[in-house]
Amino acid sequence: MRFVDPLSMEWDAGLVDPQLAPGVAIKPLREDPETGEVSFLYCSPPHRVPPGMAKPQWTHPMVEELYCLEGEYVWGDCGRMGPGGYAWWREDVYHGPAGTDTGYHLFVRTIGGPLVNHFDDEKKPFTWEPEYRPQLPADLMQYAAAYDRPPNY
Ligand SMILES: [Fe+2]
Repeated sequence: MRFVDPLSMEWDAGLVDPQLAPGVAIKPLREDPETGEVSFLYCSPPHRVPPGMAKPQWTHPMVEELYCLEGEYVWGDCGRMGPGGYAWWREDVYHGPAGTDTGYHLFVRTIGGPLVNHFDDEKKPFTWEPEYRPQLPADLMQYAAAYDRPPNY
Protein backbone atom coordinates (compact mmCIF):
# COMPACT_ATOMS: atom_id res chain seq x y z
CA MET A 1 0.00 0.00 0.00
CA ARG A 2 1.27 3.45 -0.92
CA PHE A 3 1.84 5.87 1.94
CA VAL A 4 0.51 9.40 1.52
CA ASP A 5 1.30 12.33 3.78
CA PRO A 6 -1.65 14.75 3.78
CA LEU A 7 0.39 17.48 5.45
CA SER A 8 2.69 17.59 2.43
CA MET A 9 -0.18 17.68 -0.12
CA GLU A 10 -2.00 20.68 -1.60
CA TRP A 11 -5.81 20.99 -1.40
CA ASP A 12 -7.17 20.47 -4.92
CA ALA A 13 -10.41 22.32 -5.73
CA GLY A 14 -10.33 20.84 -9.24
CA LEU A 15 -11.23 17.39 -7.88
CA VAL A 16 -14.60 18.60 -6.53
CA ASP A 17 -17.80 18.12 -8.53
CA PRO A 18 -18.55 21.53 -10.12
CA GLN A 19 -22.18 21.21 -9.03
CA LEU A 20 -21.12 21.39 -5.38
CA ALA A 21 -20.63 24.87 -3.99
CA PRO A 22 -17.28 26.55 -4.65
CA GLY A 23 -14.77 26.85 -1.85
CA VAL A 24 -14.39 23.16 -1.11
CA ALA A 25 -11.28 21.12 -1.93
CA ILE A 26 -9.98 17.57 -1.79
CA LYS A 27 -6.80 15.72 -0.90
CA PRO A 28 -7.02 12.29 -2.55
CA LEU A 29 -5.79 9.45 -0.35
CA ARG A 30 -6.40 6.20 -2.22
CA GLU A 31 -8.12 4.79 -5.29
CA ASP A 32 -8.62 1.03 -5.46
CA PRO A 33 -7.36 -0.14 -8.86
CA GLU A 34 -9.85 -3.05 -8.90
CA THR A 35 -13.08 -1.42 -7.69
CA GLY A 36 -12.50 2.30 -8.26
CA GLU A 37 -13.41 2.93 -4.61
CA VAL A 38 -11.82 6.14 -3.35
CA SER A 39 -10.94 7.75 -0.04
CA PHE A 40 -10.12 11.40 0.38
CA LEU A 41 -10.01 14.35 2.73
CA TYR A 42 -12.60 17.05 2.02
CA CYS A 43 -12.57 20.56 3.44
CA SER A 44 -14.76 23.62 3.40
CA PRO A 45 -14.16 27.17 4.58
CA PRO A 46 -16.72 28.65 6.99
CA HIS A 47 -19.91 30.39 5.83
CA ARG A 48 -20.72 28.13 2.90
CA VAL A 49 -24.44 28.76 2.80
CA PRO A 50 -26.87 27.39 0.19
CA PRO A 51 -27.84 30.33 -2.08
CA GLY A 52 -31.33 31.49 -1.08
CA MET A 53 -31.23 28.85 1.72
CA ALA A 54 -32.26 26.08 -0.71
CA LYS A 55 -30.34 23.43 -2.60
CA PRO A 56 -31.01 20.13 -4.37
CA GLN A 57 -30.26 16.90 -2.55
CA TRP A 58 -27.89 14.40 -4.15
CA THR A 59 -27.05 10.73 -4.00
CA HIS A 60 -24.59 8.11 -5.26
CA PRO A 61 -24.83 4.63 -6.78
CA MET A 62 -22.31 3.44 -4.17
CA VAL A 63 -22.18 3.59 -0.36
CA GLU A 64 -20.66 6.77 1.08
CA GLU A 65 -18.95 6.77 4.45
CA LEU A 66 -18.22 10.16 5.97
CA TYR A 67 -16.35 11.03 9.16
CA CYS A 68 -16.15 14.60 10.44
CA LEU A 69 -12.60 15.26 11.69
CA GLU A 70 -13.01 18.95 12.53
CA GLY A 71 -15.63 21.67 12.23
CA GLU A 72 -19.35 21.24 11.67
CA TYR A 73 -21.42 20.13 8.70
CA VAL A 74 -25.18 20.68 8.68
CA TRP A 75 -27.25 18.08 6.82
CA GLY A 76 -30.94 18.47 6.03
CA ASP A 77 -31.37 14.70 6.07
CA CYS A 78 -29.45 13.79 9.24
CA GLY A 79 -28.73 16.86 11.35
CA ARG A 80 -25.72 18.86 12.49
CA MET A 81 -22.49 16.88 12.50
CA GLY A 82 -19.53 17.90 14.67
CA PRO A 83 -16.05 16.47 15.27
CA GLY A 84 -16.43 12.69 15.57
CA GLY A 85 -19.67 12.77 13.56
CA TYR A 86 -20.16 9.80 11.25
CA ALA A 87 -22.57 8.88 8.46
CA TRP A 88 -23.03 5.83 6.25
CA TRP A 89 -25.35 6.49 3.32
CA ARG A 90 -26.54 3.42 1.42
CA GLU A 91 -26.69 3.46 -2.36
CA ASP A 92 -29.28 5.86 -3.81
CA VAL A 93 -30.12 7.45 -0.44
CA TYR A 94 -30.53 11.19 -1.01
CA HIS A 95 -28.67 13.49 1.37
CA GLY A 96 -28.61 17.21 1.98
CA PRO A 97 -29.29 19.95 1.42
CA ALA A 98 -26.06 20.76 3.23
CA GLY A 99 -24.14 23.80 4.40
CA THR A 100 -21.64 24.90 6.98
CA ASP A 101 -21.33 27.93 9.22
CA THR A 102 -18.03 26.86 10.84
CA GLY A 103 -16.34 25.06 7.94
CA TYR A 104 -15.24 21.45 8.20
CA HIS A 105 -12.57 18.85 7.53
CA LEU A 106 -13.84 15.39 6.61
CA PHE A 107 -12.63 11.91 5.79
CA VAL A 108 -14.78 10.40 3.01
CA ARG A 109 -14.73 6.91 1.52
CA THR A 110 -16.79 5.17 -1.16
CA ILE A 111 -17.70 1.48 -0.91
CA GLY A 112 -18.84 -0.45 -3.96
CA GLY A 113 -17.42 1.73 -6.72
CA PRO A 114 -16.01 5.12 -7.64
CA LEU A 115 -17.61 8.37 -6.51
CA VAL A 116 -20.52 9.29 -8.78
CA ASN A 117 -22.90 12.15 -7.89
CA HIS A 118 -26.55 12.28 -8.94
CA PHE A 119 -28.28 15.58 -8.19
CA ASP A 120 -32.03 15.97 -7.77
CA ASP A 121 -33.82 18.56 -9.94
CA GLU A 122 -35.79 20.07 -7.09
CA LYS A 123 -34.34 22.48 -4.52
CA LYS A 124 -35.15 21.68 -0.90
CA PRO A 125 -35.17 24.33 1.86
CA PHE A 126 -32.10 24.40 4.11
CA THR A 127 -32.12 25.10 7.84
CA TRP A 128 -29.28 25.50 10.36
CA GLU A 129 -31.13 23.34 12.88
CA PRO A 130 -32.34 20.24 11.05
CA GLU A 131 -33.79 17.28 12.93
CA TYR A 132 -31.30 14.63 14.08
CA ARG A 133 -31.83 11.47 12.02
CA PRO A 134 -28.62 9.41 11.99
CA GLN A 135 -27.71 7.62 8.77
CA LEU A 136 -25.96 4.50 10.03
CA PRO A 137 -25.81 0.74 9.54
CA ALA A 138 -28.29 -0.97 11.91
CA ASP A 139 -25.53 -2.38 14.15
CA LEU A 140 -24.09 1.10 14.76
CA MET A 141 -27.41 2.77 15.56
CA GLN A 142 -27.01 1.96 19.30
CA TYR A 143 -23.98 4.31 19.42
CA ALA A 144 -25.72 7.23 17.75
CA ALA A 145 -26.03 10.49 19.68
CA ALA A 146 -26.96 13.96 18.51
CA TYR A 147 -24.08 16.43 18.37
CA ASP A 148 -23.90 18.55 21.49
CA ARG A 149 -22.63 21.87 20.19
CA PRO A 150 -20.13 23.45 22.62
CA PRO A 151 -20.45 27.17 23.36
CA ASN A 152 -18.19 29.11 21.01
CA TYR A 153 -19.23 32.58 20.03
FE1 LIG B 1 -22.54 12.29 -0.64
